[in-house]
Amino acid sequence: MNGIIENYKEFIDIGDANPISMGEGSTPLLNSNFLSKKIGADVFIKVEGCNPSGSFKDRGMVVAVCMALHRKKRVLVCASTGNTSASASAYAAKFGLVSAIIVPNGNIAKGKLSQAMAFGAKIIAINGSFDDALNIVRKLEDYDEIEIVNSINPYRIEGQKSAAFEILDDIGEIDSLCIPVGNAGNITAYWKGFKEYNSKFGFKLPKMYGFQAEGASPIVKNEIIENPETIATAIRIGNPASWDKANEAVTYSDGAIKAVSDEEIIDSYVNLARHDGVFCEPASAAGIAGLIKYSKNYKFDGQKIVCVVTGNGLKDPSTSEKHASSKIFEVNSNLDDVLKIIN
Ligand code: F0G
Repeated sequence: MNGIIENYKEFIDIGDANPISMGEGSTPLLNSNFLSKKIGADVFIKVEGCNPSGSFKDRGMVVAVCMALHRKKRVLVCASTGNTSASASAYAAKFGLVSAIIVPNGNIAKGKLSQAMAFGAKIIAINGSFDDALNIVRKLEDYDEIEIVNSINPYRIEGQKSAAFEILDDIGEIDSLCIPVGNAGNITAYWKGFKEYNSKFGFKLPKMYGFQAEGASPIVKNEIIENPETIATAIRIGNPASWDKANEAVTYSDGAIKAVSDEEIIDSYVNLARHDGVFCEPASAAGIAGLIKYSKNYKFDGQKIVCVVTGNGLKDPSTSEKHASSKIFEVNSNLDDVLKIIN
């Protein structure tokens, strides 16, 4: 199976490095009846949880790792709220590298930690935030054997922009994109992708709408948040690395970055599963929460819109246990008792 490097080789420059793949990209773009009806628009969901390690991170990781291999690096290092580390450690396992991941102790979802453990990562849980972890990672830049694979690595952005290409290849030009924002690499990457297809094929540029969790919304508040808090641990970030680029994307596209509450996030998370059959992790539902909350403000009705759903719900089983709408019936092992529940 081709991955994004092969599929978009005209747009992703890896020089004379050998292309690699774990089958990332080519994720489903589903029409959402539930959201289309609710908003009065044509709403699509880009299901990024279908990437090899269960999140959009694989799109960028494959390019960063391809170049790390080319440059004879030995160790992949990242700070992470969970998904980057799961992705980095998967590619490290596959391509014979060491992965060392620095995560905020106690604030990474169980499924993501299990992935890193399964892939054999060196897991360093710091008593600090994601932002603290990223500050440490930045100091490792000059170590020869180490490749930093956070989105401050430009190859990550190069890979992640492929999602914008896929959307335009699948359904043509769109009016708006709704996307969760944490460290702001992904919104930066989509904007780059849309701009490149705009120059090459003339597709119009969509308006970019980024959504942060209220308790972790530094871009919205225009100030660093020292102690970010949200149920959406993936975007629990107080000082995003690509802050300026995110602002650039929304300013030039005439979009916006806004906040959604944890309650609104969970509501969208539950409803997306119930009505569209897409089980995502909480952070991934922030784009949908934003679409619903700001639908009137930004006149989303009548538009063709894509919501990026960034990661798989299986990564965060504790949240689903707490908020899923079904309950478990414990019954005796006989047909009558089972039928009572079915009926
Ligand atoms: N959604 C999910 C599921 C994520 O894991 C992240 C970021 C985002 C959205 C936000 O994307 O940072 O590019 O704005 N996760 C990073 C990590 C920070 O370490 O896995 P962003």
